Amino acid sequence: MDQYIIHGGTTLRGEVEISGAKNAAVAIIPAALLVKGVCRIENIPQISDTDTLLTILVELGARVSYINKNTIEIDCSNARCQDAPFELMRKIRASYYLIGSMLGRFGSAKTTMPGGCNFGVRPIDQHIKGMRALGADVNVEGGFVYADALDGRLHGSRIYLDKVSVGATMNIMIAAVLAEGRTVIENAAREPHIVDLANFLNSMGADVRGAGTDSIRINGVDELHGGSYSIIPDQIEAGTYMVAAAATGGEVLITNIIPKHLEGISAKLRETGTFIEEYEEAILVRGAEKLRRINLKTMPYPGFPTDMQPQFGVLLCQANGTSVITEGIYDNRFKYVNELRKMGAEIQVDGRVCVIDGGRRLSGAPVHACDLRAGAAMVIAGMIADGTTVIDDVHYIERGYERFVEKLNALGADITVRYDDDDPERIGLYSVS
Ligand code: UD1
Repeated sequence: MDQYIIHGGTTLRGEVEISGAKNAAVAIIPAALLVKGVCRIENIPQISDTDTLLTILVELGARVSYINKNTIEIDCSNARCQDAPFELMRKIRASYYLIGSMLGRFGSAKTTMPGGCNFGVRPIDQHIKGMRALGADVNVEGGFVYADALDGRLHGSRIYLDKVSVGATMNIMIAAVLAEGRTVIENAAREPHIVDLANFLNSMGADVRGAGTDSIRINGVDELHGGSYSIIPDQIEAGTYMVAAAATGGEVLITNIIPKHLEGISAKLRETGTFIEEYEEAILVRGAEKLRRINLKTMPYPGFPTDMQPQFGVLLCQANGTSVITEGIYDNRFKYVNELRKMGAEIQVDGRVCVIDGGRRLSGAPVHACDLRAGAAMVIAGMIADGTTVIDDVHYIERGYERFVEKLNALGADITVRYDDDDPERIGLYSVS
């Protein structure tokens, strides 16, 4: 399998440019299925999750072409209503957006239950509740989701989400755009990528209002037209480099970002003593001589993002004193702690709470990337550890970070990649160098 070999003890310095937001791109690509016309999408991150989704669209009859490495054109004018390729769908979480986009476009969808990172039970009951409220008959059988609009087209409705769910909010938005009449989503999630999806849909002729608040209103339209759209920068990629700079005691200017989206991350980093300076589209991070302990709890946006929790777990191993992290979103997102223990970290986990006894030096070890963000956290751990760390299962990391090793090495890291040509987890149909 593919591995990263990291020689630790490096300090990151320099400038890094942030790519387009993964969690926006993985919704916008399936949403392009609603459009009969050419969608030109800029700032697409070149990562395996976007590759997988583009491959799925091509299987459904879309034409996809790369204009340059981060700009694509998708034309779904001739897309067909057929089974989506199941093996690809099982690889990623965001394949659930095909339920909404196929229902919206064709009035019918057969998909697999989504794959993706395993943080414990990750139900899609709120997605299904939303599709049913829009008039679809939805059944889950044998790992498949069967959904059919009862009279061929969805109908607008009022939906209250029992849980604040990013995926359900975006999926219902996608499904409702071409529905007849008005849909209201109450208790909606407010993440920046939700606003980005709404902006994309509106630029193709949809009528979505209120994205970014907890009440989103969608007035259904008969069709969407082609257009051009640029995806926002990736908040979590930026946050990961911020933590990497802080943890290695370096100084990094992170460019092509929206500082507002990073407020929670910046605030918690400042509490550790890390120096942060914000500019219009960039942020400077300078590591503290001595990191202070902090407590943090993950919450839906604008709270502290769960996708930054593992990276902070590593950072706080370096802080003086005892830090407490409470995971407010998922049941089982501390699997990376076992890997950190192999490197000498002292951490106790009890359910959704983890207590870190900081201030100990980490030492290099063979470790796993348990999932996407946990994998990124292990890379940061490897950079601050004494000696050599070998991380396997790095295909998880490449699902979500564009040119991660190249960007880190340009900042002074010492990471080599050992590719296994037979790694079945790697796909790269559309990647261009
Ligand atoms: C998305 C992100 C993921 C991020 C998460 C929270 C994508 C592809 N993934 O995941 O990176 O960690 O948001 O910011 O965008 N839940 C239910 N029923 C549902 C849906 C969710 O109970 O139908 C629960 C989940 O188990 C979880 C919580 O609600 O406890 C939030 O999940 P959600 O916001 O839906 O996360 P995802 O969309 O899966």
